[in-house]
Amino acid sequence: MTAITPRDLPAPIGLLAELTHRCPLGCPYCSNPIELDARAGELDTATWQRVFGEAAALGILHVHLSGGEPLTRRDLADLVAHCAHVGLYTNLITSGVGLTRPVMTRLAEAGLDHVQLSIQDSEATSADHIAGYQGAFARKREAAALVQEAGLPLTVNAVIHRANVARAGAMVALAITLGARRVEIAHTQYYGWGLRNRSALMPSRDEAKRAIAEIERLKVLHAGTIVIDHVAPDYHARYPKACMGGWARRSLNVTPSGRVLPCHAAETIPGLEFWSVATHALSTIWADSPAFQAYRGTDWMQEPCRSCARKEIDWGGCRCQALALAGDAAATDPVCMLSPNHAVVAAIAEAEGVQPVAEGPIDYVYRRMPARSGASSASD
Ligand code: SF4
Ligand code: FES
Repeated sequence: MTAITPRDLPAPIGLLAELTHRCPLGCPYCSNPIELDARAGELDTATWQRVFGEAAALGILHVHLSGGEPLTRRDLADLVAHCAHVGLYTNLITSGVGLTRPVMTRLAEAGLDHVQLSIQDSEATSADHIAGYQGAFARKREAAALVQEAGLPLTVNAVIHRANVARAGAMVALAITLGARRVEIAHTQYYGWGLRNRSALMPSRDEAKRAIAEIERLKVLHAGTIVIDHVAPDYHARYPKACMGGWARRSLNVTPSGRVLPCHAAETIPGLEFWSVATHALSTIWADSPAFQAYRGTDWMQEPCRSCARKEIDWGGCRCQALALAGDAAATDPVCMLSPNHAVVAAIAEAEGVQPVAEGPIDYVYRRMPARSGASSASD
């Protein structure tokens, strides 16, 4: 089989709703685009509710309420209630900053199903430095307690990079202490702000290998009691991951201003045409949007992917990474050892993957909204 049309595919499973790009934290690996959407351009409550209704009608099961920090939206409980009304399972992806007891109560009463809380490190000083927010670590502990108090299932996720790679196991331990039923440990993906900070984030190959071994050990140790999902580091892999489960195969992202993307970094690919929920129904976008059709299936592939036995396993890897590393979004992801550009990945990992700096905190370019675009606090 080569060509895949949306009619051949099952309905998408998930929708990532980036309700806002506003966020009190400034994590240097944030997957949001460098050009963040301003508050003034955010979809209003009624439009998001229409989108959620269309998502349910399309067969989507899960909505991930994300950002930025979704708690900065005053209408969050109304949005959750509408998702529950149309039968969508809701997952709140949050930094925890801004989650007070009254807010947690309102969200639980509105029908929120699940909370995914990020942590930056197992040590407070380092965690606050990575987040670019003094006191974030303490507020996350409080947020986790509130989620437990509300009786909602909790996933804790941590992104691994040079500053915390030595404490991968300690972060799993912290997540268990916080009451998580599931832990997601993901090595940094180098798009958006992560790409901008790559030389400050890349761990050494040895550090990455030690972290991988430790997490795999903990997966076995905790099997049956807690789920540990592990996203291995791209730059030290032999084959790429099936990014997004394959382009436009399983899920959609809606940006704060309503553009619908096949993945969070798709806007880095020049020439793609993204349709908006303001002008098209979600089902039309899923089926016919030029951006969704661009790399769907296998027809677009070049060699070596075109004749590779893994082409319907990893779908050629990540289009955004192919663009960033090979200059061509239709190229084989250079993470793949079969890619003619694979040497680029090894050279970057070698040059930028250095040992953790012992003398002091790492300098980052923090993810920040431009001052004029309506940045605000989590209590906004
Ligand atoms: Fe995957 Fe393409 Fe590499 Fe084959 S050549 S393993 S399809 S990325
Ligand atoms: Fe865009 Fe992987 S992030 S395809």
